[in-house]
Amino acid sequence: MVKICCIGAGYVGGPTMAVIALKCPEIEVVVVDIAAPRINAWNSDHLPIYEPGLDDVVKKCRGKNLFFSTDVEKHVAEANIVFVSVNTPTKTQGLGAGKAADLTYWESAARMIADVSKTDKIVVEKSTVPVKTAEAIERILTHNRKGINFTILSNPEFLAEGTAIADLFNPDRVLIGGRETPEGQKAIHALRDVYAHWVPVDRILCTNLWSAELSKLAANAFLAQRISSVNAMSALCEATGADVSQVSHSIGTDSRIGPKFLNASVGFGGSCFQKDILNLVYICECNGLPEVANYWKQVIKVNDYQKNRFVNRVVSSMFNTVSGKKIAVLGFAFKKDTGDTRETPAIDVCKGLLGDKAKLSIYDPQVSEDQITRDLAMKKFDWDHPAHLQPLSPTSNKQVSVVWDAYEAIKDAHGICILTEWDEFKNLDYKKVFDSMQKPAFVFDGRNVVDANKLREIGFIVYSIGKPLDSWLKDMPAVA
Ligand code: NAD
Ligand code: UDX
Repeated sequence: MVKICCIGAGYVGGPTMAVIALKCPEIEVVVVDIAAPRINAWNSDHLPIYEPGLDDVVKKCRGKNLFFSTDVEKHVAEANIVFVSVNTPTKTQGLGAGKAADLTYWESAARMIADVSKTDKIVVEKSTVPVKTAEAIERILTHNRKGINFTILSNPEFLAEGTAIADLFNPDRVLIGGRETPEGQKAIHALRDVYAHWVPVDRILCTNLWSAELSKLAANAFLAQRISSVNAMSALCEATGADVSQVSHSIGTDSRIGPKFLNASVGFGGSCFQKDILNLVYICECNGLPEVANYWKQVIKVNDYQKNRFVNRVVSSMFNTVSGKKIAVLGFAFKKDTGDTRETPAIDVCKGLLGDKAKLSIYDPQVSEDQITRDLAMKKFDWDHPAHLQPLSPTSNKQVSVVWDAYEAIKDAHGICILTEWDEFKNLDYKKVFDSMQKPAFVFDGRNVVDANKLREIGFIVYSIGKPLDSWLKDMPAVA
């Protein structure tokens, strides 16, 4: 019988293993983590992450063939296939700080696998890692070898948060990279057999190790690049009177471009895009390819520009100052249907507004006050290190309040910033909202979710990303 152990019970390890357990009832799957609170939550009725459909999948197999445990060494020792799905954050210090991936957690997991193993194992890179990481990991694994064979595979994950379960049930592709040796090919087949329980075999792509590792970084870079491209267009639309939704639709009907991932926004967020592009930039620089590095760096620069541009628009529209003014922030998660706030554009927007001394009242249906306070107090890149998983004492910030109701956040506010596209923000009673606000009442829609014309009829001054500007906004100083 095959036993799978996954090191890292996070946004990837938890849902991925739950789906493998559901689809492969004869395989025992154990997800292990050093963070006891996370494991306790996985074993409770309140899972540590919010993901539509996840509760159902976990309920169906937990205690049958799906287990969550802090006994990392025991379960690694017993497994035939070990997935490593630990965090690979951006380095905060030393060589490559601010760009390179920090492989500390990966390396300590690999050393532990080498130390505790007594039988041959397939070790699967599930984390996103720099190309060539498998080579370094192989060295660590074989260094302490006592006649044990470790075969390393790269099996990057392409799920998106908010749709993780649907993505795992019906992936566009599963990618498995391995050595072009008989052992490498045998291991690829073993992992392919696991996925073949529910994924059509023509969607299981098998490549060499380096192609699989690099494809993950490339996929995220290409996706993020589309968003920065459309966001760059959104600035030009505002300057010219074009409408970015019409432009996106027009270019997206070209089958070579396609309609997906062309929504202009306040900027992309999430734990992957920025981190993986910075990693790609660093790898290009290390390989003597500065032109390629600069090309990809621009995707991040445009994203930062878009977030700054939004803050500048808010401040300039409101008579060039938001000092002492209440601003309601609707949505803090990096996208809808998740409570994840890692690299959410809301952090930079809120910090920008706080820098201009605004008073923020923040509401997100899935993000707690603790999390928001912590995020606003944290330094860049600190969010993805395990200390973050431990409770910190949040610094109190009198400029920020967090509430559990959109109407409460909005009451007496001068302006509303919509930073996450939660469906409920489309359907608020905007007449009631208008009546409860200071005048003139502003809406800055960073996700293009509201019907701007209807809101204008009520009396709001509305800014929508990349859409023709109200005469009020046109008359205010230009933003850059
Ligand atoms: P996460 O922070 O949610 O989970 C990682 C977990 O690993 C944490 O719970 C941490 O405690 C645990 N961990 C760290 N070191 C450990 C060790 N030595 N032993 C046991 N547990 C350890 O991260 P995530 O979002 O699940 O991402 C994991 C990896 O997958 C990253 O490389 C990320 O880039 C990649 N990825 C993430 C997504 C996503 O949507 N979040 C999608 C695709 C790929
Ligand atoms: C991304 C990749 O999509 C996924 O394949 C990979 O495995 C992990 O990284 P994720 O970050 O979870 O997934 O969500 P995604 O849907 O890609 O959104 C990322 C950010 O881009 C969000 O802030 C989202 O709001 C933003 N976005 C997305 C836009 O601004 N416009 C779009 O058209 C699409």
